[in-house]
Amino acid sequence: MSNIRGRFQKAADKAAAAYTASIGYDWRLYTHDIAGSIAHARMLAKQGIITGQEAKTIAAGLAEIGQEIEAGKFQFKPELEDIHMNIEARLIEMVGEVGGKLHTARSRNDQVALDMRLFAKEAITDTLLRIKEFQRALIGLAEANKKVAIPGYTHLQRAQPVLLAHHLLAYFEMLQRDTDRFIDCLERTDVLPLGSGAVAGVAYDTDREFLAQELGFSQISQNSMDAVSDRDFIIEYEAAASICMMHLSRLAEEIILWSSAEFDFIELDDAYSTGSSIMPQKKNPDIAELARGKTGRVYGNLLAMLTTMKGLPLSYNRDLQEDKEDFFDCVDTLLASLEVFTGMIATLRVKAENTEKAAGEGYILATDLADYLVKKGVAFRDAHGIVAKLVSYAIEKGKTFGELKLAEYKKFSGLFGNDIYSVSVASSLAARNSPGGTSPKQVAAALARAKKTLNL
Ligand code: ARG
Repeated sequence: MSNIRGRFQKAADKAAAAYTASIGYDWRLYTHDIAGSIAHARMLAKQGIITGQEAKTIAAGLAEIGQEIEAGKFQFKPELEDIHMNIEARLIEMVGEVGGKLHTARSRNDQVALDMRLFAKEAITDTLLRIKEFQRALIGLAEANKKVAIPGYTHLQRAQPVLLAHHLLAYFEMLQRDTDRFIDCLERTDVLPLGSGAVAGVAYDTDREFLAQELGFSQISQNSMDAVSDRDFIIEYEAAASICMMHLSRLAEEIILWSSAEFDFIELDDAYSTGSSIMPQKKNPDIAELARGKTGRVYGNLLAMLTTMKGLPLSYNRDLQEDKEDFFDCVDTLLASLEVFTGMIATLRVKAENTEKAAGEGYILATDLADYLVKKGVAFRDAHGIVAKLVSYAIEKGKTFGELKLAEYKKFSGLFGNDIYSVSVASSLAARNSPGGTSPKQVAAALARAKKTLNL
């Protein structure tokens, strides 16, 4: 029986104990918990609160416990509730009474806040790396298809031709903003809560700056009540993760569309496709679909945590234990999604012949015809009207722009000349040379910028 039940006459009800236990998932915090405890013991010794020898004994015991857990030899006990009590009980079992001194000048409230911040900092670092890998794959695909045109869509209707690289680099930009959000989130996560005690601070001469240094935090928290009950940093991660997943989900939707027979723009590598149990011909984009689906789960993680927090009076409340499963799930889901997307993007094959064909089909160059008239002095609104009539005429005649005779063009404006036939996908792309536009020149510059951003 753990000493947290010291004042009670009875053991906890079985169902109640299972209900309150978090060891089933918070065991994942063991490295953070041990690192925090070793730093804490060292601080206690430095401040003369325990002896140097006691700190050494405690640190050695904790290191051994870490190895036991690593080796799968540690026996997690649900009756000890959580990772903190499991480790402490084993420490006392291992090194004796001196192990009981570790919890001087701290509480599980600042301890768990510390563990979660250490975990979150690692998660952010991992996330930033995965985003970068994914961006690198986007750049790779863009470079390999530098000259390939595809239709640019609005309302999912073909609008104007764009370079595929331009389309892909749009996602690079989104992911770069995600990167900025996670970096920003890291700044506020990087604050040491340890030393706040249960709620009011501690009655010992501790050195929190020393702890911050030992544990790699750039700041210490300024208010003990805030420190033990704040989970903003988790909400921020989950919010940034939700936005990032939303970006992946948009790309997922395009992958799904593009790999359909209706679009037929890409083929996914076999390693990133799934088959059907009944239809032998099927090659399904399940990874993209799952990422789209998991985006809903990640939004759920964020909403769950916001809801958990909204009614909590200061300071620590046990509700906060509910931060973990959702947060772990959110981190795992985002990291896995980024990883599979990286592979999927790096290996997919672009069917350039189909994207190019689609990019030139229909009346997708209508804006270019209007721009042609504008260059000859027509006001854009009038040019738009003239080309609109020309389009409806061409549809009626069942002809493409290229198939219309000059005489037919002239019916709509005398300004049309033979050079109208030089309007093409290539000329359309080259013309869109405004900063951030799709001209080959702009896209080459954007690719160079993207590579520089990633230090490639
Ligand atoms: N398992 C708890 C949690 O995750 C640790 C803190 C417990 N503190 C307490 N006062 N019961 O929040």
